[in-house]
Amino acid sequence: MRVKKQIGKKRIIIAIDGPAASGKSTTARRVAQQLGYIYIDTGAMYRSVTLKALQQGLLDDLRRSPESVSDLIKDIAIRFDGDRVFLNGSDVSSEIRDNRVSREVSFISSLKPVRDRLREMQQELGRERGVVMDGRDIGTVVFPDAELKIFLVAEPRERAKRRYAELIAKCPDGGELPDLDELEDEIRKRDREDAEREHAPLKKHVEAHEIDTSDLTIERQVDIVYNLALDIQKDGR
Ligand code: DC
Repeated sequence: MRVKKQIGKKRIIIAIDGPAASGKSTTARRVAQQLGYIYIDTGAMYRSVTLKALQQGLLDDLRRSPESVSDLIKDIAIRFDGDRVFLNGSDVSSEIRDNRVSREVSFISSLKPVRDRLREMQQELGRERGVVMDGRDIGTVVFPDAELKIFLVAEPRERAKRRYAELIAKCPDGGELPDLDELEDEIRKRDREDAEREHAPLKKHVEAHEIDTSDLTIERQVDIVYNLALDIQKDGR
């Protein structure tokens, strides 16, 4: 693994947005490693709040009366330690990937008070720059001044195959795995929900570099983003 600490170089913000399974987190994590930057997975933050809503049995209340959202966002502390995510001190890194969290996360992330709270936390995490942050609204809302904005896309079928491979890796005996068509339907549904919501919908910033990863290897995606970052640092832009 190439690790080139950019000592003395301008530390920038790299915002990587795009739909589910478009390759954001793998690309963001590796680019951060190569630059000696920190990586922040904002999807994990929305997933953590969703897990809290499930644990506290708040979902029905929230659907009936969105005012109860204040119970959800008060006293919420999310911390990253390498690849681990801690919610109020507990390691929730695996639980936030459960299907029940994936099913509800679009609803929770459509609530404005949740978005406002997490946006503040994300801006604080990136205050010193030198960060690669991935999500849906990083280049458009959280850091519209990010020096490098990337928008990753890929065909829904290809994204479903990637999710399937991840699930197989986690559960090698096959277990209760959804099939590819189901995964593709879920992905298309989440794309629609994320792109059509009222607050901070998924959309490409005009300045973002759009990269279609359908036929790219991870190494190639990482190289493209890494080289764009080096060019910006070189220009001192
Ligand atoms: O990247 P992911 O699939 O783990 O994200 C989970 C959900 O969180 C995604 O469906 C939408 C929401 N999200 C968001 O609304 N804004 C972000 N910046 C990141 C994620």
